[in-house]
Amino acid sequence: MTETMQIQEVATRDGFQIEPVHVETADKIALIDALSAAGFPRIEVSSFVSPKAVPALRDAAAVFAGIARRPGTVYVALVPNPKGAERALAAGVDEVNLVASVSETHNCANMGMSPAASLAGFGRIMETLRGSGISTNATVATAFGCPFEGEQPADAVMAQVERYRALGIRGVTLADTTGMANPRQVERLVARALRVVPAEDLTLHFHNTRGLGLANVLAAYQAGARRFDAALGGLGGCPFAPGATGNICTEDLASMAHEMGIATGLDLDALIRLSRDLPRLVGHDGPGQVAKAGRPRDLHPVPRAA
Ligand code: COA
Ligand code: ZN
Repeated sequence: MTETMQIQEVATRDGFQIEPVHVETADKIALIDALSAAGFPRIEVSSFVSPKAVPALRDAAAVFAGIARRPGTVYVALVPNPKGAERALAAGVDEVNLVASVSETHNCANMGMSPAASLAGFGRIMETLRGSGISTNATVATAFGCPFEGEQPADAVMAQVERYRALGIRGVTLADTTGMANPRQVERLVARALRVVPAEDLTLHFHNTRGLGLANVLAAYQAGARRFDAALGGLGGCPFAPGATGNICTEDLASMAHEMGIATGLDLDALIRLSRDLPRLVGHDGPGQVAKAGRPRDLHPVPRAA
């Protein structure tokens, strides 16, 4: 049987939230439509957060109104609080991704409240969403370390996962917000999480801040995880974490998976084309490598003897 991995695209949310330039709404819509055509099972389209906190994503409702929904793709929005959930509901999202850090300090910097206050809000959100048909996911941010507090106890991460499940939230994401994870730590935490959350509901969200992104994916995959967030071109980063840099790069991850015989359902050639077009939108080159080097199978002509 073919091995498979689900890659979930987050460039238009995690990627654009940290860009100093405002990508035009029409360009966001065109990119999301092209990403849909490339075959993603899930796309995190935008965030319904405070426009003062993240001005780059203030057009979330207009983006949701403008995109073409491809059957087979789930269109997700990040939501921090009950007001965000109401806006997401009105915009017709398929799924909300609720986010709270396990680190008290990071949640206060990012969300302006304690993790306990975030979770109390998630309880109210679940009541609001009941019967709406909208599916739910919740992220444990800083699960592999906090830029202010350092390593977070695995017991605290797991306690937050259990709280999410007790609230009736189906999907759980463990996020390495600022790329502090290492493969051994990933293997241990994924093994623990899979005792509580089935693989089909568990997502790993890695940043490549210290160059360990794909090593961490492989460790998580070998421990049984099958769903991974990634951003086209390796864009991404949390505006409220010092030194944050990009997500793992979608086309680099897809290339690795395909070379290893793991199917993703993604059109890698299309992803490389879209990645090469990103500088037009964000005004700079990204850290992705396969879009620059080409696929391993794209061979070069033999140089002619002089
Ligand atoms: N969407 C839009 N506006 C919102 C909002 C939301 N989800 N939540 C609150 N607001 C508005 C309020 O209506 C209020 O507006 P006003 O000043 O016009 O009256 C204002 O924001 C302040 O509301 P308050 O509840 O005091 O929020 P806050 O200022 O403490 O901010 C968050 C809390 C969670 C909204 C804010 O910290 C946030 O958006 N964080 C997200 C950060 C992020 O996206 N990080 C990266 C991804 S993990
Ligand atoms: Zn992230």
